[in-house]
Amino acid sequence: MKSVTITKHPLIDHSLAILRDKNTKTEMFRRHAQIVSQILVIEATRNLKLRSKKILTPLAPMTVKELDDEVVVVPVLRAGLAMLFALQDFLPGSQVGFIGLERDEKTAIAKEYYRKLPIILSSHQVIILDPMLATGGSFIDTVNALKSKGAKKITLVCIVSATEGLKLIQKLHPDVQIFTSAIDEKLNSHKFIVPGLGDFGDRYFGT
Ligand code: PRP
Ligand code: URA
Repeated sequence: MKSVTITKHPLIDHSLAILRDKNTKTEMFRRHAQIVSQILVIEATRNLKLRSKKILTPLAPMTVKELDDEVVVVPVLRAGLAMLFALQDFLPGSQVGFIGLERDEKTAIAKEYYRKLPIILSSHQVIILDPMLATGGSFIDTVNALKSKGAKKITLVCIVSATEGLKLIQKLHPDVQIFTSAIDEKLNSHKFIVPGLGDFGDRYFGT
């Protein structure tokens, strides 16, 4: 899949093992969700553009590089919040927009309950954060909302994705770049990722 990057790192494998284990308690789950999110964010921002700037160090003038791209980050509520804190460690100045989506327990179709987005320019790098990509429905709704606001450069960062959702996104939004730490084989009859890690939001927020 051309637009999908699987980020591999021993620390990701280690943290994923803890996230996937059903006996992991909330505190450890949060800690390792943060670690995986940070590594994924570093990978997903690898190609951000830089510009030159002249500064004075205490000893001499110097030309340094600073970020040129402006980033708008959109965590998909609620589980995406878990990844927002990781991104803000690296990009504390980025604008944040919110989309709240919740899957119906019976149909697995996502319903929007909240939307607050900043002005989005075609030059903005828009990063969507959502730890789980199952059917792809929530993500497609999010991309549609962002494209209708003018977003042109969209990246999704997610922890566990399923082949079914990835294929659908490739078909509908082939321009979107996806960074994930794992691609799992299938969905069960309730559209949960198998083997997956269960309900991310419930495990992260301890509900
Ligand atoms: C989860 C997850 C994604 C969505 C993925 O959210 O965070 O947003 O499901 O499933 P999909 O690809 O089939 O749409 P959920 O609806 O459980 O809400 P939550 O974040 O409030 O827990
Ligand atoms: N949402 C989750 O939190 N987990 C899944 O496996 C699918 C959707």
